[in-house]
Amino acid sequence: MQRSFWFMALFICILIGGFIYIGSIVTKLSGEKGEMVATETGVSPEGGETIFWGKGQCHTCHSIGKKGSGIRGPNLGGVGDRAIERAAERTTAGAAMDATGYLVESLAQPSAYVVKGFKPEMPLVYKPPIALSPDEVKAVVSYLQSQDGEVNIEAIVLPEEVMASAASGGGGAVEEWKPYQGGDVAVGEALFFDLKGDIACAKCHTIKGVGAKVGPDLTTVAATRSPQYIIESILEPSAVIASGFEPVKVKTKKGKIITGILKEDNEVHVLVMDSAGNVTDIPKDKVKKLKTLKTSVMPPFGNVIKMEDFHNLLAYLLTLK
Ligand code: HEC
Ligand code: HEC
Repeated sequence: MQRSFWFMALFICILIGGFIYIGSIVTKLSGEKGEMVATETGVSPEGGETIFWGKGQCHTCHSIGKKGSGIRGPNLGGVGDRAIERAAERTTAGAAMDATGYLVESLAQPSAYVVKGFKPEMPLVYKPPIALSPDEVKAVVSYLQSQDGEVNIEAIVLPEEVMASAASGGGGAVEEWKPYQGGDVAVGEALFFDLKGDIACAKCHTIKGVGAKVGPDLTTVAATRSPQYIIESILEPSAVIASGFEPVKVKTKKGKIITGILKEDNEVHVLVMDSAGNVTDIPKDKVKKLKTLKTSVMPPFGNVIKMEDFHNLLAYLLTLK
C-alpha cells in the first residue's frame, strides 16, 4: 500500500505544480492586458513611458538623459523644454506652432523638421510596423512633454493623417506585407551566424548580444524597419546609410589614407572603424582631410547570396521584433 501512497503524493505534487504554472501564465497574460487597457483608455505620461521603452521602439534610436543606449536619433532628455525653442524656430520659418505642436509634428510628420546633425530616418510610428494608435501617440507626446516641459494632455491635438491611419485600422490591423516566397527561419539564422560561410552577417552585426558591432544591432530590426527597407539594405546597402555608420575617407598630413566608419569626430581626435571592427585613432591635428563617402561599408549581397538563401535569411530577419 505504501507504493500507492507515494503515487498519490506525486500526483498531487504534479497537480499543484501545474496549477502554479498555469496561474503564473494567466497572471502574466492578464498583466499584459492590464497594461494595454491602461494605455488605450487613460492617456498619461506613465503610459507614454511604457510605450517609449517598449512597443513604440523609440528607445532603439533615442536615449533620454543617461537612460538607454539609442544613438541614431537625438537624446530626448529635456525635449519638453527644447520644444519651445524649436516651435519658435518653426514659427519664424512660417509654420506657426507651440511646444506641444512641435512634439506632435515630430511624430506625425518627422521629416517636416530634421534635427541638425541627423538624417530624416525617423519612421511614421502610427503606421506599421510600429503602428501606435492615436491614444498611444498622445500618451507618448505627454511623456515627451514631461521631459522638463509642462504636461498638458488637452493641448495634444493629432493631425488628420494620424487619426486617419487609425480609422483605416492603424493599430497593426493593416495587412502585413509578406514576401512572395517563404523561407526557412532556422536556415536563415544559421546563415547569419555561420562565420565560415559567404553570408556571415554576424561578422558585422549583433543579434541578441551575439555578433560583431561594425554595423547596427539588428535585434529588433523588423520592429522599426519595413521588409522593403530590409531587403534594400541587403541588396543595395548604400541606398540609405544608417546614421552613426557613415563611411569616410581620412587623409593624414603625412599622406596616409584611412577608410571606414566615422565613430567620433571632435577637437581631440577622429575615430575610424574598418570593416573588421579595428578602430584607428587619428589625432585631430594630424588630419588633413575628412571626406564622407557614398558607399556603405556593408558590401552588397545581391551577387553573393543564392535566391533560396536570400528568402531564408529574410524570413529570419522578419522575426526580429
Ligand atoms: C529608427 C529610428 C527612430 C525611431 C524608432 C524613432 N525615432 Fe525619433 N528621431 C529619429 C531621428 C533620426 C530623428 C532626427 C531627425 C528628425 O528630426 O527627423 C528623430 C527625431 C525625433 C524627435 C525630435 C527631437 C528634437 O530634438 O527636436 C522626437 C521628439 C522624436 N524623434 C520622438 C520619437 C518617439 C517618441 C519615438 C517612438 C514613438 C521615436 N522618435 C522613434 C529616429 C527615430
Ligand atoms: C562588412 C560589414 C558588414 C557585413 C558583412 C554586413 N553588414 Fe549590414 N551593415 C553594415 C553597416 C556598416 C551598416 C550601416 C550602414 C548602412 O546603412 O549601409 C549596415 C546596415 C545594415 C542594415 C540596415 C540596418 C538599419 O537599421 O538601418 C541591415 C538590415 C543589414 N545591414 C543587414 C545585413 C545582413 C542581413 C547581412 C548579411 C547578409 C549584413 N548586413 C552584412 C555592415 C555590414
